Amino acid sequence: MSHGSRRTTTSTHEETALGRAYDGRLMRKLWPFVRPHRALVLLSLLLLVAVSAVQIAQPYIVKVAIDEYILTRRAEGLIALAGLFLCTLIAEFLLRFAQLYVMEKTGQNVVYDLRTAVFGHLQRLPSSFFDKNPVGRLMTRVTSDIESLNEAFTSGLVLILADLVKLVGIVAILLWMDWRLALVTCAIVPLMIAVTWWFRVRMRAAYREVRRKVAQLNAFLQENVSGMRLIQLFGREQDNLDQFDAINRQHRDAELTGVRYESAFSAIAEMLGSITLAAILWASGWRILAGATTFGTLVAFIEYASKFFQPVQQLSQRYAVMQAAMASSERIFALLDTDVVIRSPQRPRRLEHRPRGEIGFESVTFGYAPGEPVLSDVTFRINPGERIAVVGWTGSGKSTLIRLLVRLYDVWDGRITLDGTDVREYELADLRRAVGVVLQEPFLFADTLGGNISLGDPRIDDQTVRAAARAVRADRFIEAMPAGYRAPVLERGANLSVGEKQLLTFARALAFDPAVLVLDEATASVDPETEGAIEKALDTLLTDRTSIIIAHRLATVRRADRILVLHQGRLREQGNHTELMRHEGGIYRALYDLQTAGLADV
Ligand SMILES: Nc1ncnc2c1ncn2[C@@H]1O[C@H](COP(=O)(O)OP(=O)(O)O)[C@@H](O)[C@H]1O
Ligand SMILES: [Mg+2]
Repeated sequence: MSHGSRRTTTSTHEETALGRAYDGRLMRKLWPFVRPHRALVLLSLLLLVAVSAVQIAQPYIVKVAIDEYILTRRAEGLIALAGLFLCTLIAEFLLRFAQLYVMEKTGQNVVYDLRTAVFGHLQRLPSSFFDKNPVGRLMTRVTSDIESLNEAFTSGLVLILADLVKLVGIVAILLWMDWRLALVTCAIVPLMIAVTWWFRVRMRAAYREVRRKVAQLNAFLQENVSGMRLIQLFGREQDNLDQFDAINRQHRDAELTGVRYESAFSAIAEMLGSITLAAILWASGWRILAGATTFGTLVAFIEYASKFFQPVQQLSQRYAVMQAAMASSERIFALLDTDVVIRSPQRPRRLEHRPRGEIGFESVTFGYAPGEPVLSDVTFRINPGERIAVVGWTGSGKSTLIRLLVRLYDVWDGRITLDGTDVREYELADLRRAVGVVLQEPFLFADTLGGNISLGDPRIDDQTVRAAARAVRADRFIEAMPAGYRAPVLERGANLSVGEKQLLTFARALAFDPAVLVLDEATASVDPETEGAIEKALDTLLTDRTSIIIAHRLATVRRADRILVLHQGRLREQGNHTELMRHEGGIYRALYDLQTAGLADV
């Protein structure tokens, strides 16, 4: 019996207090996922009962062999009985294999469906949800929480039922063979249960502490390995080693506490087993001498006793598995129940044709936290094909404007229109296809260069990808790579320079050919040389479409048709560069003067 197996299986779970091991409400929610596989569940249960029956039959065959053949010296029937015993062994082997396989298969099927459902749901959740839930926690939902539910199947519910069936079967046959002896055998069971429970609670607490320490170790390692260069440059190695040493020691100590309980428990369980054995020998000895029971019964009892204690010890373990599974499913269903706040309307307006690209903000007010508006009463209009720049200090609400336009969030008040229609009336997919956004942080997937331009969209063929790359001058560095468009992008684009990543995201935006293009500080972090190339790429990008450029550097802004100046969530000035510069004491003028003086990098 593996007392320590719980350690690894839930190692990445968050440590929430464990509650009930069975929760009808959660089970009902789980049922739709199990239902399609109910035939397999039933089969698995039947196989389990069969395994138990075969196991229970074995000691009885031994008893019959001893009492009726060996002790009576009838050798002829013994061979047949031995053959029968062998058959039960083979049957047990086959049934157990089938049972385990069917059970795992059921569990894996359910988990597969559940994981798909959770991921599908995640993709529909609004941005505000991701603000509140860290990535790590969500990953736990999709991986280990679901895995723990799988465990509830494979080593929880079904096995608990099986153990109970087996226990009842064994008790029944013991009582039937010799009820007095049965009572002696079972006398130790309450003590066994009490001892098991006492140790389980403590082992669980100890291993919970171990998992907490493992999580700390992981967090520490992740941070420090990622920042290794910095640590070495600042000579922080010794301090970091000391910190690591402390966590590492705590981890070892927690582990040792668990091991102490586990060792004690094993020894005590073993001892209780021996005591039971002694009790059986003692009681049956008297009864055999008195002719009240047979020698075969004694042997059968000893056999049954060993089969009996195993499930008793395991029940508490299974109980813990069920508790963990319930806690996990609670979290999974909480996630699945999270409402998809931003969705397409019932009867969405479809964008059959490319929109003209006229944008209107009408008295838009919005904030991320209740009562704290980030944008207040913002009103402006952008004509089709116009080139707009938005400037303002960091935190003035520039990016927020864009998030509202593409409905990553919905406005509190007022409305935003595209071609005169409220953006909330469009089919969400159409809206987001019409408005292309290039973010400051170029995000690349671990795919090929070409795949990062097309994002696997079937409507974007190789030719479009190449044309887009050529238009933004990304073709030169792509074709310089040995595998060209099929060259892989490493995780987080580690094999590309910042400028190259930027050009790739430009090519991506161009390939999707949106009616409205938004660049959110997309040119902020490149060297002047690349910036020259990017400026040229930009001109290509911005032709024939409405564009909104949120710019870090005011040099990029000067060529815009109109500049909007945001300040503390309000639209304070608008006009072209010359007009705004004429405004003495204006915000734009202040920003510009500071930047040209090299004092501020707005
Ligand atoms: N996801 C968010 N949750 C809470 N507050 C946010 C979030 N994003 C931005 N903010 C806050 O909203 C304000 C405007 O942010 P943002 O629009 O990103 O400004 P900008 O792009 O002009 O620098 C800032 O005060 C910022 O702290
Ligand atoms: Mg921003």
